[in-house]
Amino acid sequence: MTVVPGVAGSAAVTDVEEPASVDGPVLVETLAIGVCGTDLEICQGRYGAAPPGSDRLIIGHESLGRVIAAPGGTGLAVGDLVVGIVRRPDPAPCPNCAIGEWDMCRNGAYTERGIKERHGYASERYRIEPGFAVKVDPALGDLGVLLEPTSVVAKAWDHTERIGARSAAWSPHTVLICGAGPIGLLAALLGMQKGHEVHVVDRVVDGPKPQLVADLGATYHHEPVAALAGRADIVLECTGVPQVVVDVLANTAPDAVVCLTGVSSGGRTVPFDAGAVNREMVLGNAVVFGSVNANRRHYEAGADALSDADPRWLGRLISRRVPLESFADALERRPEDVKTVITFAA
Ligand code: BGC
Repeated sequence: MTVVPGVAGSAAVTDVEEPASVDGPVLVETLAIGVCGTDLEICQGRYGAAPPGSDRLIIGHESLGRVIAAPGGTGLAVGDLVVGIVRRPDPAPCPNCAIGEWDMCRNGAYTERGIKERHGYASERYRIEPGFAVKVDPALGDLGVLLEPTSVVAKAWDHTERIGARSAAWSPHTVLICGAGPIGLLAALLGMQKGHEVHVVDRVVDGPKPQLVADLGATYHHEPVAALAGRADIVLECTGVPQVVVDVLANTAPDAVVCLTGVSSGGRTVPFDAGAVNREMVLGNAVVFGSVNANRRHYEAGADALSDADPRWLGRLISRRVPLESFADALERRPEDVKTVITFAA
């Protein structure tokens, strides 16, 4: 499944070369590809870049595949279920990329499979370096496709906890998650696994999301975010919606740690009283930070979180499975959608 980045409506199933050996020694057949907001933006021509010398980009960064060839010494064997890591270090590399923390790349010259200058995983076969393929519990079956978004929330949680630890007596209790999409729901899952009191706020009142939140043991809200944010020790903002972000910033509790995870598109402005927000944050020692992507440690934490979760609950996150031939259906957003997955013949 390819697109011409920058050209809306160019997504198509096209014939491509067999995967290049420079991509890595491990050959994988693709089973499933998750679709997220980033993919929709790429298909709308608003994000993404093809590899140098190529017009089209093979998309797909949320993957699940089965190893079909792996040389000895790679730690992988034929039949293993694997998920491919999205980001590759910048070529310099910067100090963070040099130690495997490519999620913290400092110069922006990183590449991302299926997103930025590197082909993705939405092809029948792909090749990969063993260090960038993460094994998933075979008992998860196709739920393993949830690992990439889970790695993103595992990183958000990891950094939230590291930042919170600045205060020796920090012992967070109440967590607010803004947005009950896949990222918000997976963030809530990890929050429950960590033993917190988790609240999830979203604008929808029907569809599967309220019950998914309730079945985790968390509390679902659809009242204004402003009323909820001030009671949370941790806020994980997973919508990227400008008004929601501003309402969170304007209502931070003392010592709060606010993590922003939504990659929003600019251009929509909302009123913002910077002086008042500044005063509240200073007087309350609040922290607001952004979090993107994930390194191998976060994929491994995410894999553990998925293995510990109720598979029936995880199964309800995958609300539609669409065969590759009908990919255009997968790019439509329907009210009952949580996570749509494109399935491959293998
Ligand atoms: C992906 C991340 C990626 C980010 C920015 C997200 O959809 O999950 O891995 O870093 O987009 O390109």
